[in-house]
Amino acid sequence: MKNGFDDNFLWGGAIACSQADGGFLEGGKGISTQDLRYLDPAWNHEQVEEKHHNSPFSKAEFDQALKDMDTTYYPNRRGIDFYHHYKEDIALFHELGMKIFRTSICWSRIYPNGDDEMPNKEGITYYKDMFQECKKYGMKIFATILHYDIPVNLVLKYGGWKNRKAIDFYVRYAKTLFEELGDLVDYWLPFNEFNAGRFAPWDGVCLIQDEEENMNQSIFQCLHHQFIANAKTVALCHEMLPGSKIGGMIARFETYPATCRPEDALQAMQDQQYSNWFYTDIMARGVYPAYMDRYFDMFDIDIQFEDGDDEILKAGIVDFLSFSYYFSQVSTNSQTWEKTAGNLIMANKNPYLETSEWGWQKDPIGLRISLNQMYDRYGLPIIIAENGLGTGDVLEKDGKIHDPYRIDYLKTHIEQMKEAIIDGVEVIGYTMWGIIDIVSCGPLTMDKRYGVIYVDLDNGGKGSGKRYKKDSFYWYQKCIATNGKEL
Ligand code: BG6
Repeated sequence: MKNGFDDNFLWGGAIACSQADGGFLEGGKGISTQDLRYLDPAWNHEQVEEKHHNSPFSKAEFDQALKDMDTTYYPNRRGIDFYHHYKEDIALFHELGMKIFRTSICWSRIYPNGDDEMPNKEGITYYKDMFQECKKYGMKIFATILHYDIPVNLVLKYGGWKNRKAIDFYVRYAKTLFEELGDLVDYWLPFNEFNAGRFAPWDGVCLIQDEEENMNQSIFQCLHHQFIANAKTVALCHEMLPGSKIGGMIARFETYPATCRPEDALQAMQDQQYSNWFYTDIMARGVYPAYMDRYFDMFDIDIQFEDGDDEILKAGIVDFLSFSYYFSQVSTNSQTWEKTAGNLIMANKNPYLETSEWGWQKDPIGLRISLNQMYDRYGLPIIIAENGLGTGDVLEKDGKIHDPYRIDYLKTHIEQMKEAIIDGVEVIGYTMWGIIDIVSCGPLTMDKRYGVIYVDLDNGGKGSGKRYKKDSFYWYQKCIATNGKEL
């Protein structure tokens, strides 16, 4: 029996380019779909939530954002200016003791329009330099090839992921990364949170809510194209970079039956299949699972397959799995259950769990259960690609940030990760989200902070941009230094 973390356990931190980099249109970068998302810094939490859950992105906003070159109302265009600060930030990651850094590569920095003849050299140089900076400190790289931000031109000209041509553009982009950055990256991840396409269509598959006649049908066709792009990329990576590992990822929605009524247990099983397993089954087993036929019939979804797609899926099986884990929820077939917010979805409330300031239900034991379930199903190594607490922090006059709530969140989740390892699950790494404060993905605010490093910027991007170490920085530093023995 194992009694804790292996010596080579990959302690780390994660961010995504669209939420951190800024450098909008610098270095030859094209406009990405995430550059178009809008936030009025004057909105309060309720207005932000209303916007986030009820009308994430409309055609009118899309057209307006394309014309508007301002950065005030488009937080992803400025991020935390990691583009210009990465050396100082990576030095802090090193001071923290990080063994691995997860970030995403911005497609529109490499191919500004997605369909360009040649890649943008400046974009490649940026990533080479940034990754070499990590290597200087002996840090491994976990690179996400696509974290929600595709070149906007692909949406305008081709309809984005609805068009099968997107597969070829994506695979060509991935091939360029393998050629140019293959010797620097240790773990590749073709798609962030594969199931996001289903629950956040603009982020995941770049579909505009009020533009689709049959949203469900469009989503699953886009997802099919992504599954094919994923499998082709996995196969290409195996061929070009036999020393690297390439994996699959979902946003993990752990769910419990609301009661022991068989109807609720059945609902929980189906929620797991439709929200979680569908995605990992295809990536780890290389076939569409049989239970989806019934779902597709129920919702009249007819996915267009091309000859050879089945073989492509079979030939592109991932080496490891990963997931983001923030919360759990309950499953019930009752329509009247109380709701609360959650990552990408509105969740059914669990009366036994506390919620964060943003309504997400904190459930460390759910992480242990998720790890066990995923390992039982596939037997593949697992990296926890994201886990953390998004909440407000106060920068004191003396430059300190006291965040015991974050320490408690991390401690209780890491304890349960350790339990899962003792249960026999092969967990090889943990990249905490977002290791440094960045623009939050759903609400687009800076005041939903995840970092152990504070960034002095407000929702309108005002502030010094200076970095400060929170109390949780020192806590995580000790956790890493003692390889999880002192929590
Ligand atoms: C995940 C995303 O869904 O959740 C991240 O991969 C995101 O990009 C994270 O930041 C936390 O969500 P939010 O909306 O609180 O930033």
